[in-house]
Amino acid sequence: FSSFLTDNYSRQHNYLRISVTERCNLRCVYCMPEEGIQLSPPEHNLTTPEIVYLSELFVKQGVEKIRLTGGEPTVRKDIVSLMQQIGQLRTSGLKELCITTNGISLHRKLDAMVESGLTAVNLSLDTLDPFQFTLMTRRNGHEAVMKSINRILEMKKLGAAIKLKINCVVMKGINEREIIPFVEMGKDKDLEVRFIEYMPFGGNKWSENKMLSFKEMLALIREKYPDVHRMQDHANDTSKTYKVPGFAGRIGFITSMTHNFCGTCNRLRITSDGNLKVCLFGNSEVSLRDILRESNQGKPFNTEAMEALKRLESDRREGIPGSTGALGVSEREAQILDVIG
Ligand code: GTP
Ligand code: 5AD
Ligand code: SF4
Repeated sequence: FSSFLTDNYSRQHNYLRISVTERCNLRCVYCMPEEGIQLSPPEHNLTTPEIVYLSELFVKQGVEKIRLTGGEPTVRKDIVSLMQQIGQLRTSGLKELCITTNGISLHRKLDAMVESGLTAVNLSLDTLDPFQFTLMTRRNGHEAVMKSINRILEMKKLGAAIKLKINCVVMKGINEREIIPFVEMGKDKDLEVRFIEYMPFGGNKWSENKMLSFKEMLALIREKYPDVHRMQDHANDTSKTYKVPGFAGRIGFITSMTHNFCGTCNRLRITSDGNLKVCLFGNSEVSLRDILRESNQGKPFNTEAMEALKRLESDRREGIPGSTGALGVSEREAQILDVIG
């Protein structure tokens, strides 16, 4: 059945990224304008029962890794409960439950999240200097982010199986001098710092002369650590991983601008308003929300309506008319899965 999740390029899409909100509590200069972005009307966004329903459907079809993203996922009020519900899909085949966050309020929610099954945190941090942090994110909060990082490291020491990656967008003339301190963060800590090439995005004022390429970053690191060496990457990694001999941690590079990794990309994406996107840069989107809400007069599903829908689908699956039988999925599920077939 997992052929549903194999695309025309034979890529097995078993990694689903779900944006749970467009909102963010920072205004990073490379990502958002000072005034923020135009938000969609709330009823356009997926409700929690809808996100859980879609997650379940994708896990049943072979998705093994779900990453919650944003905007900033922790600004969603019920993020912990959402994670608890998705975490229950571990019994249906979900192996990894991850979050990409800016870490501002993570420390307050982390323990509950780990208890719900959180296995990996990718945390954005571009500077180790509080003043520079305010310049780059246009907000205060460096201390809170460090608190989140320290809490993760503490939990790891206590035995929690949780992976930590720091995402650091490198901008020439702005934070490139922090590359070495970031590498050294891994001296005695089990984490991976990933340096990301600055990309044109969300109408930012990207220019080539503000971008430091992967090659330039590596050369800079080699000046101080000539023995830094490449490690074997996992099949679908979008980053290239390196290690400084003797360091506990690793470093990585996300080379979106200079080395394209599309051939091995296994990511599916659902936007906060319920569109399925196969590529971050692709424009083709299909609304899963609209297919899902068709039987609810186009209205968002609350918990009760979702329970009723699930009962109906389970009846259908047992052979009552409308079931697609052989695949063991209801018509609506088949319709949703068909959009990526
Ligand atoms: P893991 O591999 O699971 O650790 O996560 P990830 O690197 O896919 O996710 P994360 O949210 O940490 O994203 C890190 C960076 O990768 C961001 O700068 C994204 O913009 C970039 N990225 C994620 N997916 C893609 C992709 O499909 N294509 C491109 N070009 N960039 C991507
Ligand atoms: N260029 C590179 N990386 C970016 N991110 C956001 N905007 C950009 C950009 N213009 C990164 C964030 C976060 C990750 C999900 O994407 O820093 O870590
Ligand atoms: Fe928010 Fe992440 Fe964008 Fe920064 S990069 S403004 S933290 S969504």
